[in-house]
Parts: sequence; structure tokens; C-alpha cells
Amino acid sequence: MKRWACACGIFLVVLATLIAAFSHTKSARAWDNGLALTPPMGWNSWNKFGCNVSEEMIKSMADAMASNGMKDAGYQYVVIDDCWQVSRDEKGFIVADPQRFPSGIKALADYVHSKGLKFGIYSDAGTKTCAGRPGSSGHEYQDALQYAAWGVDYLKYDWCSTGKENAEAAYATMHDALAATGRPIVFSMCEWGTAKPWLWAKDIGNLWRTTGDITDCFDCKKQYSLGVLQILDLQDGLESFAGPGHWNDPDMLEVGNGGMSGDEYRAHFALWALLAAPLIAGNDLRDMTPDTKAILTNAEVIAVDQDKLGRQGHRVRRTGDADVWARRLSDGGRAVVLLNRGASEVEAGVSWIDLGYPANLSASVRDLWQHKDLGPFSGEFHTRVAPHSAVMVKILAK
Ligand code: GLA
Repeated sequence: MKRWACACGIFLVVLATLIAAFSHTKSARAWDNGLALTPPMGWNSWNKFGCNVSEEMIKSMADAMASNGMKDAGYQYVVIDDCWQVSRDEKGFIVADPQRFPSGIKALADYVHSKGLKFGIYSDAGTKTCAGRPGSSGHEYQDALQYAAWGVDYLKYDWCSTGKENAEAAYATMHDALAATGRPIVFSMCEWGTAKPWLWAKDIGNLWRTTGDITDCFDCKKQYSLGVLQILDLQDGLESFAGPGHWNDPDMLEVGNGGMSGDEYRAHFALWALLAAPLIAGNDLRDMTPDTKAILTNAEVIAVDQDKLGRQGHRVRRTGDADVWARRLSDGGRAVVLLNRGASEVEAGVSWIDLGYPANLSASVRDLWQHKDLGPFSGEFHTRVAPHSAVMVKILAK
């Protein structure tokens, strides 16, 4: 009896060692697909159009992006979100909506490529997408090969209808399927932060959503979606998990969709740049006001987002409604956002000590919205900030 117990014990130890070794091999998966070395920039259909997608609309959006200054500003990926797909054929291949995409997805990808842009698509790790279309569960390799054959450059992969599936395992399966195609495809994971993807996704995807969906308001919380401030507050503390090739994604932009003021949209854009967030526009690019265009194509703010050091910013301090966020840049400078969360004007400032600079250092301060040098400052910089708005400056030692 004793001998049996002993043999059984040894067997269990060996088994556990094997399992540990195996799972170690799995978690040691490294994915350097050479993509998204700076946060991806592009456009996605969901925030403005929802399920109302078609090849004509996507083509006209690519035309607009290529000709209205967005492409020149760095926007690159044209991504169709949910609802392009309707069923699977008898061999299990995904079928695009024949009414809305009569020329097929390959022709659409070719068109986007002909504009010097890249093409992205959407699927889901579960049996159904969030809008109830067929998901990729059980078809991961077949779908990945199909995307590669179509010329897809970017996959957004959602998390609806996944039941009790393990997020890390499910995303790793699609990672493996994409890697097996041999085509470089940015992998955008849309798990909403529930299973803390920042802790495990670095070697699986290029970006991962950290929260539920954004909605077009500055300060609000709805049943399934969050305003800019509500999303912002969930980003603090995640900064150490981001870097070249792997980014926290606080969701797509709402700039230009009509629910916020110009100041609020400037704050939204400045904060996303400070966070090294993917800049995925979500408005109608064919019909932008001059103000919307000026926000989305502000080269100085985009340069902060795209800084090659890839250091995500963090909250330096919060005093009442005044928030100070800062990030380190590759030239030794600091980008700083002085955010007024409230409804009345505030005085907000940042000290050099907060930024890791010696207090007596003389540094230039440049306003990235006014495109104006404000002069040399020592020790600190402070200014009045209007309600629901953000001043964004770059501070650089002279
Ligand atoms: C989820 C995602 C959104 C969008 C929709 C599409 O809610 O988080 O970004 O892709 O699904 O159905």
C-alpha cells in the first residue's frame, strides 16, 4: 500500500514538472513581428458607423485619408470593424456580406493598398462577434490564412460570446494562427481589460484594450461605455506595461463625432498622445470641420504619441480638478498635460522635481496647441486652464 502511495506520489511530481515545463514553453512565447514599434495610427468604422459598413464607404474613407492630410500626418490603417461578415460557407470559410461588399474583401484591401495605406479587419475569439456575426472560435487558422490571402495588415480581435474561455489561451491561439501565415499582421486585442491583458499579452499581441468601450462624452459613465475621464483614470498604473511593439489601448478616438466641445476633444487627443495610445480616428474623415482636422493632424501632439522611446505617461499629481500627466521623450524632454477636469477655471502647474529634473535647471516650454514657445522657465511651469480642457506643453532642458 505504502509503495503504491510512493509510486503515485513520484508520478504526480513528474507529471507536475512536465506540465510546468510545457506551460513555461507556452508562456515564453515571444513575438517580435516588427510591427507597431510606435502606437498604430489609422481609422476604424465602429465609433461613427457601427454596423453601417460597405465597400463604397470604406473606399471613400481611404480616399479621404490619402488626400486630406491624415495620411501625411501618419494615419495608415483603414480598419473595418464588426458587421462585414454574414456567415460561413460549407467549407467553413468566412463569407463577407455580398450586398455591402459585392467586390469582396480582397478587392477592397487592394484598393486601400493602392492609396498607399494599410488594411485592417475585425473578428472575435468567441462563437459570435459583439454584433452577432460569426466569430473565429474553432476557425482561427482558417481565418488567419484567409486574412493573409486577402492582404489584411491589421486584425482587431474582440471578446464577445467566449463563455468560459481563457483569454490568454484564446488570444494565443489567434497569435499562433497569424504568425503561421507568415504575413506581418498587427494584432489588436479587444478583451476590455477584464483579464488584465497588460500582465500577459506583451508577447501575444501588439496592443490590447484596457477598458470597456469609449463613448463620445468627456465625463460620463453609461452601462457599457465610458467617457474620456473615466477611461483616463483606468490607465494610471499601466504605464510600465507598454513599449515599442506592445501598447495599452484606451480605445479609439471620438474626436469629431459631435458629442464634445473643441476643448474637450483637444484634451482627449492630448491625453491619448501622452498615454502613447494607438491613434485610431473614429469620425467621418470625408467631412471634417477645420477644428477637427487641426486636432487630428496636430504634428506636435502626434510627435509625442509617436516618440520612439515608447514611454507611456502617467499621472504625476492630482489637486482637486487639476490633473498633471507627464511622459519622458527620447530627446530627454518631457511632454506634460495640465488637465482641468472640472467646470471652472483652475491654476495648474508642474515642478521640475516632479519631472525628474533638477530644480534650478533652465528649460524651454513650448505650447503644443498654440504652436508657441512660451520661454525659458526654471523650477516649475504653471498656467490657468479653462474648464474641461487641457494645456499640453513640451519641456526641454536647454
Ligand atoms: C465591442 C468592441 C467595440 C466594437 C464592437 C463591435 O463592443 O469593444 O470596439 O468592436 O464590439 O460590435
